[in-house]
Amino acid sequence: MCGIFGYVGTRRNAGEIVVEGLKRLEYRGYDSWGVACKEQNGSVSVNKDIGRIGTVDGSGFCQDCALAVAHTRWATHGGVTQLNAHPHLSCDGTIAVVHNGIVENYLEIKRELKAKGHTFLSETDTEVIPHLIEEKYKETGDFAAAVRTACLHFTGRYAVLALHTESNTLVAARTGSPLIVGVEREGLENRATEIGKSQVPSPACPAKLGERNRESRVPHQSYFIASDIPAFLPFTKTVQYLDDGEMVVTDGHSIIFSDIETGEERPKREIGITWSVEQAEKGDFDHYMLKEIMDQKESVARAVNQDETQIMTLAQAIRNAQGTFLVGCGTAGKACMAAEYFFSVVAEHHVNFCAASEFKVYHHFLKPASLLIVVSQSGETADVLEAMEVAKRKGSKVLAIVNVEGSTIAREADYTLLIRAGPERAVASTKALTGQLAALLLIAYALGDRLQEGKTLLLETSAQISDMLNPRYVERLSKLAEDMKDREDLYIIGKSWNYPMAMESAIKIQEVSYVHAEGFAGGELKHGPIALIEEGTPCIALMGKDEVQMDILSNAMELKARGAWIIGVSPERFEVFDEWIKVPDAGVAQAIVNIIPIQVLAYFLAVKRGKDPDMPRNLAKSVTVK
Ligand code: M6R
Repeated sequence: MCGIFGYVGTRRNAGEIVVEGLKRLEYRGYDSWGVACKEQNGSVSVNKDIGRIGTVDGSGFCQDCALAVAHTRWATHGGVTQLNAHPHLSCDGTIAVVHNGIVENYLEIKRELKAKGHTFLSETDTEVIPHLIEEKYKETGDFAAAVRTACLHFTGRYAVLALHTESNTLVAARTGSPLIVGVEREGLENRATEIGKSQVPSPACPAKLGERNRESRVPHQSYFIASDIPAFLPFTKTVQYLDDGEMVVTDGHSIIFSDIETGEERPKREIGITWSVEQAEKGDFDHYMLKEIMDQKESVARAVNQDETQIMTLAQAIRNAQGTFLVGCGTAGKACMAAEYFFSVVAEHHVNFCAASEFKVYHHFLKPASLLIVVSQSGETADVLEAMEVAKRKGSKVLAIVNVEGSTIAREADYTLLIRAGPERAVASTKALTGQLAALLLIAYALGDRLQEGKTLLLETSAQISDMLNPRYVERLSKLAEDMKDREDLYIIGKSWNYPMAMESAIKIQEVSYVHAEGFAGGELKHGPIALIEEGTPCIALMGKDEVQMDILSNAMELKARGAWIIGVSPERFEVFDEWIKVPDAGVAQAIVNIIPIQVLAYFLAVKRGKDPDMPRNLAKSVTVK
């Protein structure tokens, strides 16, 4: 849930580099931030504060600086205070550490370190890390070895990045939270090519790094170590991924990857990533959320234009499986739930949705011939990774539908399908959802031996979305948000695939505008929720021209009869609607178009209520803790 970024290399403005990178990682946590830089005299300077990094200028943090680490925090252990903000330092001030995840056994380690005379300044679990490394370094004089042995003491899922002034090195290790290395070679052409095609080995390392008192070698290239690629995207598109249980050490001259457990070196290939800097920036938009909603004019088509042989292979894997489960969290979970309907209607094939956080109880159903389909934008969600572990323990195969190429989930699955929505930075997931829905519907069509029909439908839907998202339409939704902005409760109903979209609508509205919103299956109203309806309560009905159209219309009438203000999201107008949000008739793909006006509405509700839609309170983009 936190953002980590570090730099070592030939550039002399490391403070500025990490601060600017941190701004691109802020979606991962924005309670507080901090930066540690190695000064010219060899000491460490630390700048940290609570709140967002916003407009902080890192250029003044240190002069002529080539080694720095930085962190943007989403608090778990210890409140949001300046002292609790990372980096944390060792007693002698030569080691600075930033950390994502949880050191579960920190209390025990802290007790032992205190007994040895270490002083702690914060309430965090993180602070034990620099002190334990310091203790280990006293024993060996080898910084990388000290980090490794310290890591062997920690339990829990984490990513850690440590800076050492004496050896001028960065050492990072991960057991569950993402870490990616960016490589920028001075004067050399970027040698990596498209993902999956590159095989450029890491430069050989002539000597162990991090040894005490050795002469510091002059960096001849730049290494960036971050929780996510956008941090270093302006500098390089050549990356190396750390896998779980691995660590990396670099002094800007060489780089070594190794296994934390055994200490053995690991060869690591370089991969060229395809995201552009522009895709990751918000351009002329006020917020990433609106920019990413607008990106759907093209992103749905990218999810659909997949390699057909690959889609048929995935469909075949589902056909052959004895039991298929679909899991995801939050918005991605709602895509999975909608897919249950897609597979039923399009392929007459039974699949089971389960929220990833609930899946471990389902292990009784799993066999080696079962298939687990996991859906995740980030590819790093802890609950999804746990579901994958459960399936793998049972010998079942895993198919991952992800957005972030090279993410842990993408790499650990047996089959991976990228939805290629491009970087999604706003906490609220928008274009990733429609990409996930499109990919799942395409697979359902392939399973029903109607791939071309599905592809045609989805590409037509993509064109409809492009038409729909015109300035007049957006303005109309802005006006509706204005009329709604002071309501404290809002209900959304749907049936069939519009039922998960009603739940997704509620998530979108809740998370960015903090309006109390709930999504229901229309038919469930009369079993309880209808008691909530009062004169003027806003209720949104999501509809399509389909076999359940009349059912949901009846439900809307039941609400209207109790005084509800009915907003119909539908291809057709009906008398019961007080407001009609017209959407194109997209047939089986109706869920994909119906959610889009709700995304826009949620965005404007947030803005008009004075909330920042990109960084809602209490949330982070990527939930890498359980
Ligand atoms: O990265 P993932 O798709 O695995 O994330 C899953 C959820 O955390 C995510 O969809 C979350 O619900 C969003 N904030 C919703 O907009």
